Amino acid sequence: PIVIRREAYAAPDWLVPEVALDFALAAAATRVRARLSVTRNGAHDRPLRLDGAGQRPLSVSVDGVAVNDWRIEGEELVVPLTGAAHVIETEVEIAPERNTQLMGLYASGGNLCTQCEAEGFRRITFFPDRPDVLSVYSVRMTADKALYPVLLANGDPVESGELADGRHWATWHDPFPKPSYLFALVAGNLAVNRGSFTTMSGRVVELGIWVRESDLAKTDHALHALKLAMEWDERVYGREYDLDVFNIVAVDDFNFGAMENKGLNIFNSRYILADPDTATDYDYDAIAAVVAHEYFHNWSGNRITCRDWFQLSLKEGFTVYRDQGFSADQGSRAVKRIEDVRGLRAAQFPEDAGPLAHPVRPESYQEISNFYTATIYNKGAELIRMMASILGPETFRAATDLYFDRFDGTAATCEDYVACMEEAGDVDLTQFRLWYAQAGTPRVSATLDSVGSRATLTLEQHVPPTPGQSDKAPMVLPLRVKLFGAESGTALTEERLVLFDRARDTIIFEGLAERPVLSINRGFSAPVIVESDRSAADLAFLSAHDDDPFARYEAMQQLMLDTLVASAVHGRADHEGVIAAVANTLDDAGLDPAFVAEAVLLPSESFIGDQMAVVDPDAIFRAREALRRDLGRRLDAQWRRALAQGVAPYAYTPEAKGFRRLRSVALGYIAASGAADAAELAFAQFEAADNMTDRQGALTTLVSGTSDLRIAALDIFYNRYSDNALVLDKWFQVQALASRDDTGAVVAALTRHPDFTLANPNRARALVGAFSANQRAFHAADGSGYRLLADQLIALDRLNPQTAAKLLPPLGRRRRFDAARSGLMRAELERIVATPGLSKDVFEQASKSLEG
Ligand code: ARG
Ligand code: ZN
Repeated sequence: PIVIRREAYAAPDWLVPEVALDFALAAAATRVRARLSVTRNGAHDRPLRLDGAGQRPLSVSVDGVAVNDWRIEGEELVVPLTGAAHVIETEVEIAPERNTQLMGLYASGGNLCTQCEAEGFRRITFFPDRPDVLSVYSVRMTADKALYPVLLANGDPVESGELADGRHWATWHDPFPKPSYLFALVAGNLAVNRGSFTTMSGRVVELGIWVRESDLAKTDHALHALKLAMEWDERVYGREYDLDVFNIVAVDDFNFGAMENKGLNIFNSRYILADPDTATDYDYDAIAAVVAHEYFHNWSGNRITCRDWFQLSLKEGFTVYRDQGFSADQGSRAVKRIEDVRGLRAAQFPEDAGPLAHPVRPESYQEISNFYTATIYNKGAELIRMMASILGPETFRAATDLYFDRFDGTAATCEDYVACMEEAGDVDLTQFRLWYAQAGTPRVSATLDSVGSRATLTLEQHVPPTPGQSDKAPMVLPLRVKLFGAESGTALTEERLVLFDRARDTIIFEGLAERPVLSINRGFSAPVIVESDRSAADLAFLSAHDDDPFARYEAMQQLMLDTLVASAVHGRADHEGVIAAVANTLDDAGLDPAFVAEAVLLPSESFIGDQMAVVDPDAIFRAREALRRDLGRRLDAQWRRALAQGVAPYAYTPEAKGFRRLRSVALGYIAASGAADAAELAFAQFEAADNMTDRQGALTTLVSGTSDLRIAALDIFYNRYSDNALVLDKWFQVQALASRDDTGAVVAALTRHPDFTLANPNRARALVGAFSANQRAFHAADGSGYRLLADQLIALDRLNPQTAAKLLPPLGRRRRFDAARSGLMRAELERIVATPGLSKDVFEQASKSLEG
């Protein structure tokens, strides 16, 4: 395999200040003519090399004269040039309707659209397809007017007109130089929901959300979120939009969430379409977050882009941090932080502990698509968050102003960003930079010893080895720390931000009036694993008294984890501490129901497994179910009270969302208790629901139960939504996630269901992706789960390598399991690697999973 290395970066030999593209669009065959003005970058005599993807140029000309001294080397078109500036023209023909990879120009639902990040543009035309080549684009499109009445591209529309034979044309111009990965066009039969936004300097921006006509009624939430995001970025970061139009197009076939193409964002329709009957609260929140994320990229990504793909977190980590801040401001800051940390622990911690671990700024890759990971995105966001806490809010804002100002219009690096933080903050971030270079989640052990009025906090850190990095240096861990009085329950100290930057350190607290209880890593100030020797009693105490809601949640999680691990590993099941703490939380009338719902939820099976030396999925399941049953039984009255609370006609407000969330958690506990009426209660909620959150919540409870009502509910749900692809995804997903003995067999049967297709990434993820997240079913001792995943992945790889490769990581966690399971996983990985014609995407993931 060809390995691309960060240290091998060299500036481009040729720049392309201007590009004119002319598309004769049709699904079967599209002609692309490209005119590139190229200028030599520095003194050299090397030819022009343009990236391609297997196409043959139909013609090549230099300065208006057809040439034939070009050659194809690998996938590159090599054109010898004599002077320092030339105009190169090429023509190719591509077949959008045969593009199943969904990279480049492809067809979705009868429309044509593009996806170019990271390296899709080379599938459209020959070009130096790297992010440090910035060009001003002019685009002309011609297409059949009946099939493709709407023609959109980046920037602002210029002109359009009619042609003979039912065709029409449009031209667009984007004045902002941009890399090829931000190029986009859409041709289709689309309806638009229009809005407008007036920026802080008075520019009136025309907004448009483009979807198929029948989905138009589901676009108001996305449009509203877009306006909120535009206003938020002005207020919080001083960032203003810079074109006269901002368009978003929703397509059903999309490899990931969405794409920030300049002025023309293209979205997976699941992150645009919503109404109360078809989208859950989770969907609504995700739509607002992704709309904001892509919009925020206009500054963190587009105005300032990445020099090379090793810098991907420069735009993604920062933009995730920005969208997290936006979402936090829309509702409860504490609940948002809890959700983000739960996501980090579910996706990024396992990645950091497995064979695919990589630093936030990787050193090498085979296929860049494999590096759009939780580490780059979510751990990357935590790095920004740590720098923001070290600087404090005002200084952080000054530092981002400096960054936006200094690097506007350029392709920058993570180092450039950190240097701005350092300069504006007047701090030394030399050691902090290790966060970009060292993979692995740091482990911190914290012990608090108190004698009289004095307490000593001893901290030790250890960064575990990861593939290619055996020895790690201590990192800077910003830990928010506070002490509480064990008797009074009040604060004994102010909160302190401890910059813990050595292998071992001690911190002394004096003048303490009573025995202190340690609250540490408050707000999850550092993305680390804290091991403390706090007793169950102290954790229960913090879960009731800590004044940081995140720390309260965290104390409860730790208490639950300790209980569950003890029970799964040693078969010791003392549930009393957890039951008392949960009861206390449920009875605390002052708490936000959304917070309560998070706090009383048990850690996931996979997170419990992460705490064990050898993951035992059966023991974890049994331990978790036993605790759920006890919590359900002992707190039956409280759960029923929660279930009756806040019932009101649907509204999408933080308050109503909180009640819905708590009700669905309560329903789950009532079902876990084995109560005779549990299935009836769930079915009644399923039928009475005036929104998808309650309906899907009830269905989720039913499918994991034994009542035949689950069959009825699944049928009703299917028939009601059989023409709605996004809701059918939910129908597949709830079944794949069900906690049942027969889930493996059900999922195998669903792969043959007439509505199942691997051609649509959402559908593939809804069934196969969800199944591999189902610990009990996926890790079935006979290896049937592993085989199912490998079969589907191999089949999907022939169509869509990028999406196939994203499904692989669960198989790579093999070293965490017993020898039998580990051997079965290895066998499937070996079968995958031995598959003829395997993509480099899947090869990289599978071979690294075998080595690591
Ligand atoms: N830049 C897009 C976003 O985060 C995602 C692009 C993903 N590309 C990929 N090759 N996986 O908003
Ligand atoms: Zn992004």
